[in-house]
Amino acid sequence: MAAPIVSIKGLYKSFGGVAVLRGVDLDLEDGGITVVIGPSGCGKSVLVKHVIGLLRPDEGSIEVDGQDITHLPESQMTVIRRKFGMLFQQSALFDSMSVLENVIFPLVEHTSLTQRQMRDKALGRLLQLGLSNVEEKFPSELSGGMRKRVGLARATILDPRIVIYDEPMTGLDPIMCENVEDMILTARRELKITSLVVSHDMASSFRMADKVAMLSNGRVEVQGTAQQVRNSRNEVVRRFIYLSGTGPLTLEAAG
Ligand SMILES: Nc1ncnc2c1ncn2[C@@H]1O[C@H](COP(=O)(O)OP(=O)(O)O)[C@@H](O)[C@H]1O
Ligand SMILES: [Mg+2]
Repeated sequence: MAAPIVSIKGLYKSFGGVAVLRGVDLDLEDGGITVVIGPSGCGKSVLVKHVIGLLRPDEGSIEVDGQDITHLPESQMTVIRRKFGMLFQQSALFDSMSVLENVIFPLVEHTSLTQRQMRDKALGRLLQLGLSNVEEKFPSELSGGMRKRVGLARATILDPRIVIYDEPMTGLDPIMCENVEDMILTARRELKITSLVVSHDMASSFRMADKVAMLSNGRVEVQGTAQQVRNSRNEVVRRFIYLSGTGPLTLEAAG
């Protein structure tokens, strides 16, 4: 198997004496979709923030593309962050800019494309996400689901190698969720993007993941293919899957 594009080893992180991450080991395979699941407040967002250096670990290491970024100075993190696209819980669009201006923004900042090329690229990406004729609208004129998709368009417009989606399905109806799922799958297929997805939507996680990792009690409780995680004998994992209502599982066998 090819070397992982992101490798997390023995990650520890406490806040005010409370340990949130207590030895997390996780690899992201290049071009794969890794989905991190786990109870609310278990540290999923804290974990992904370490991957892009927004938080620094107390112990452990993080390698991105073969480079140890654990203690990389902030000035050099900027270069690393270019490898990432990010979509956090709030899509944080600029309210005073049109949809097109929002999506084009990273291109203006980081490329020397012509206005025409930027417009074409942005419109193309919007179309891929099922958004047409919204480019002149402002975020406040869009539904929550559409804003999310505009956020996705902006997060992927620089064609990053890795995209981090933190709860991209939150607040979306089932159809929109499927759109987001499609988008993540399209990103892998067409753009060879590596995806790190934090989700509490178990059904879609199991459908799209090459690897599922369940975070609980500060550690990766179980990781593997969707099939392996669904069939895990680990009681914490079984209970979580059972409660989410996605497994054909019952709890009796877990006891
Ligand atoms: N910057 C921070 N300072 C202090 N505590 C934090 C910080 N970020 C997260 N936490 C705490 O860490 C725990 C895990 O948070 P988070 O990673 O956001 O959970 P989730 O799995 O729901 O994404 C929570 O108890 C949260 O309050
Ligand atoms: Mg979170």
